[in-house]
Amino acid sequence: MPRIITYTLCIIGLLAILPLVIIARNRAEASTARPIQIILDMDLQTKFKTQSRNELFADGRAMRQPVTGTVARGEAGADTHFANGVVGGNWATALPAQTPLTPALLARGQERFNIYCSACHGYAGMGDGMINRRALELVTNAAGPVDGTVWVAAKSLHDATVTPQPIGQIFNTITYGIRNMAAYGTQIPVADRWAIAAYVIALQRSQNANLQDVPPPSRAGLGL
Ligand code: HEC
Repeated sequence: MPRIITYTLCIIGLLAILPLVIIARNRAEASTARPIQIILDMDLQTKFKTQSRNELFADGRAMRQPVTGTVARGEAGADTHFANGVVGGNWATALPAQTPLTPALLARGQERFNIYCSACHGYAGMGDGMINRRALELVTNAAGPVDGTVWVAAKSLHDATVTPQPIGQIFNTITYGIRNMAAYGTQIPVADRWAIAAYVIALQRSQNANLQDVPPPSRAGLGL
């Protein structure tokens, strides 16, 4: 074989392992350089740093002011009634001024209760919602709890420990949760939480009413 071919083959052979050597070295060494990305996904995109310009807004500022009327957590000021359900250090016993008792408020409360609470507590608040029923089925399975299910039953809202609670305390339970029940403060706006609390009180009253609570013209229709 002519020498020139032997040398050429040697050089090609050496060059061929070069990429492998470079890859091996790069894989073994830490680097601060940006990785080579073939598909960028959303790793690289426009962003605005503190105090920078953004022509999208009329004032040219990338940093925005809070929306008018925003109240930061813990900065509710003196209005602890509306924000926390507390008046003078005690649970509020009435609705705050922002959400007066109206048929519309109770209707809203009923709708929101049915969406957020009935799954566990049941439509009438008896603690017999569908999730609760299904979970009880799983834990009382004859062969032992399915997949190690653990369940704390949703409380009946007509329980003797719940009915004496002032509306502010119900509002607080919805807002911050209680023991095994999760908090709904971030999901449900504050006015809707008051609407739900009012509806819970109405539900409790509905299970503990007497004939005097029914307006006289409607009593005849009750068949009592
Ligand atoms: C995922 C199931 C679930 C949902 C949804 C749920 N709860 Fe509960 N709730 C529970 C459980 C469980 C308890 C009992 C907690 C315990 O005793 O550990 C409870 C307890 C309560 C209590 C009694 C608190 C006390 O002082 O003992 C009230 C009042 C209540 N829930 C209201 C609501 C309202 C109003 C909603 C809707 C905004 C709601 N819950 C949504 C599971 C739920």
